[in-house]
Amino acid sequence: MDLLSLARTVKHRVEAPLTDALSLARIATDPRNPVLLTLSTALVNPLYRAAFLASAAGSGVLGCLAVRPCDLDSLAEYLEVPQDDRPRLRAWLDTGVRLGELGTREGCYRLRSPAARLLALPGNDAVAATLEEILRFHVPVLLDAPRMLSAGRRFSLADQDGTVIARSSLALRAMVEAALDRTLDREGPVRLLEVGCGTGAHVRYAAEANPRLTAVAVDLQEDVAARAADNMAAWGLADRVETRQGDLRTLDLQPQFDLVTLHNNIYYFPEDERVEALRRARALLAPGGRLLLTTSCRGGGNAGLDVLNLWFTYADFGGPLPHADDLAAQLAEAGFTDVRATRIVPGQPFRAFTGTSTGSGAGSPSSVRSVPSVQSV
Ligand SMILES: C[S@@+](CC[C@H](N)C(=O)[O-])C[C@H]1O[C@@H](n2cnc3c(N)ncnc32)[C@H](O)[C@@H]1O
Repeated sequence: MDLLSLARTVKHRVEAPLTDALSLARIATDPRNPVLLTLSTALVNPLYRAAFLASAAGSGVLGCLAVRPCDLDSLAEYLEVPQDDRPRLRAWLDTGVRLGELGTREGCYRLRSPAARLLALPGNDAVAATLEEILRFHVPVLLDAPRMLSAGRRFSLADQDGTVIARSSLALRAMVEAALDRTLDREGPVRLLEVGCGTGAHVRYAAEANPRLTAVAVDLQEDVAARAADNMAAWGLADRVETRQGDLRTLDLQPQFDLVTLHNNIYYFPEDERVEALRRARALLAPGGRLLLTTSCRGGGNAGLDVLNLWFTYADFGGPLPHADDLAAQLAEAGFTDVRATRIVPGQPFRAFTGTSTGSGAGSPSSVRSVPSVQSV
């Protein structure tokens, strides 16, 4: 080594630690660090945890782990993951461990966080499905709204997973049941038509409350109707409840029903088509029959409902959640008499709307001219 090279090497050895220390100091004092740290603690980590939990609950992994700790192979078998993809399944499960939702012991995965344990309980299925609904449908509208507008894109019914929504809707079950308690005749024979039955759980509640009730349960979505039919069979109700796929707007049924129910789906109809849909529901009622419609309404100051409302604003079907007064007026315009809008829980935006069909001119435009009473509570 000549003298010049030796001098350069010595200089470099002295400068390198200094340079390293300086760049470390620069990295450590980067003003973006505290912002990133705050974001990741307050926003990003909870989002990752929620997404992992929603997926673990929806795929049944939490349910398996609630029964007993499981190793990779038994989870892979349960999920029907091919051999080649098992390392990927392990990577996902290990991420769940690092996020603190799962733990491991003796080569087995187990539930660790309180949230994972709660979501694994069968009684909390509607909560787990609500988390999945939020992540799969609410997050995309918040994320994509401006891009969707630029591209002229809208959500369609196919963008929703009907079976997830059917399960998440049951988060409102207690309020729907309270509305049914106030409306349902528990003794005489009742012919019920439920439009948009989802899982069929509300029809089951009505059938168990009145052993003489028979029902037709209809849902627009094929897979949802098929799942509801399976549920009716499992609940021992297949002989009293006919379940079918169908659209309220084109249902070919006689005006034979004592009660028509629509729970949590009036916003699947565009605002300017709601009167027609309600007329159609009235046309299926026997004289003196009643409508029970339950729905969340606008104006509750609830972020979840705001985003649901936003989703339907960006969809190529349906429309925003109703204003309670507007919907009561639409029932009246559709020819229902004795229209009432009742809050189920004071202060909550969820309401039950009832109306009676006198039977005259059901569904005909002349029925619109009658001036029925409207009461809002
Ligand atoms: C949010 S889910 C509610 C499910 C159930 N009613 C509940 O409250 O648990 C709305 C359901 O209404 C159904 N639906 C929407 N429009 C319909 C129509 N025109 N005819 C029949 N069903 C309809 C959808 O397919 C969906 O399953």
